[in-house]
Amino acid sequence: MGFDEMDVDTIWMDGEFVDWEDAQVHVLTHGLHYGTGVFEGVRCYDTVDGPAIFRWEEHLQRLYDSGKPYDIEIPFEPEELTDATVELIRRQDLQSCYIRPIAFYGYEELGLNPSNCPVNVAIAAWPWGAYLGEEALEEGVDVAVSSWRKYASSQIPTNAKTTGPYVNSVLASLEAKSNGYVEAILLNKEGHVAEGPGENLFLVRDGEIFTSGLAESNLDGITRRTVIELARDLGYTVYDQATISRGELYTADELFFSGTAAEVTPIRSVDDNEIGEGTKGPVTDEIQQEFFDLIEGKLDEYDDWFTYI
Ligand SMILES: Cc1ncc(COP(=O)(O)O)c(C=O)c1O
Repeated sequence: MGFDEMDVDTIWMDGEFVDWEDAQVHVLTHGLHYGTGVFEGVRCYDTVDGPAIFRWEEHLQRLYDSGKPYDIEIPFEPEELTDATVELIRRQDLQSCYIRPIAFYGYEELGLNPSNCPVNVAIAAWPWGAYLGEEALEEGVDVAVSSWRKYASSQIPTNAKTTGPYVNSVLASLEAKSNGYVEAILLNKEGHVAEGPGENLFLVRDGEIFTSGLAESNLDGITRRTVIELARDLGYTVYDQATISRGELYTADELFFSGTAAEVTPIRSVDDNEIGEGTKGPVTDEIQQEFFDLIEGKLDEYDDWFTYI
């Protein structure tokens, strides 16, 4: 569904609430030419206690941290961005939504050194359902290992969510779709499993859970952190600094993606090899169920993770 079909009308931009169609930038914006922006993807859920943003503090921290390698100094305090986001959701009367904060070098000059450019900041929010489809959450997705490698953290910081490098994810995603798959898995420069284009990856083998370590050129996903904590609290052993080879994907008992957009999505095949029984496996099912109970606000022990609207 396109933005025009959605019931949204306001964007927060550089300290002001503006009409959706007025949230514009100049065509010579630095970030448009060189991808010098950092962003977040966050979800607000309609919990049993009303709309609440999930792990907002962690997302906000990652936004400020993402800017550090690029000297992007966000000219607003975290509390200002929190207040703006809560107000944005209230004004549009959204019960559940996806939230996209972005900070980028703006319009001043176009040398590669952005020091003279202002840092612009915007926050948008809109309704967004299951990223890979409702059916995917139940049945699992068919994925393919991409011919594009994930860029190395020695080339571009992979723990930062920077706009420009997402062309790597776009390439992998386009390739997967044009070959008939729902999503891709990217290997890193060494050939180890890194992650999906917009998801972290978990592998289940003999009842234990593995996910690639943060030195494998993947994002320190906040859903990844959530899944690790939930799984440990459920009694699972989780290896969160694993090195996973391509071959281990094919012989896994279960595989699943985690991400703000994809939530917890089972993977039913990789490169046409069926994973486990070719559908959502029991460990994935238990973790996914726990995750859904969590985001519906049913698990009181994790209440600190919610910012209520
Ligand atoms: C490349 C990449 N990996 C992993 C993730 C999952 O991270 P999170 O759970 O914080 O959304 C995302 C989504 O932001 C991503 O873009």
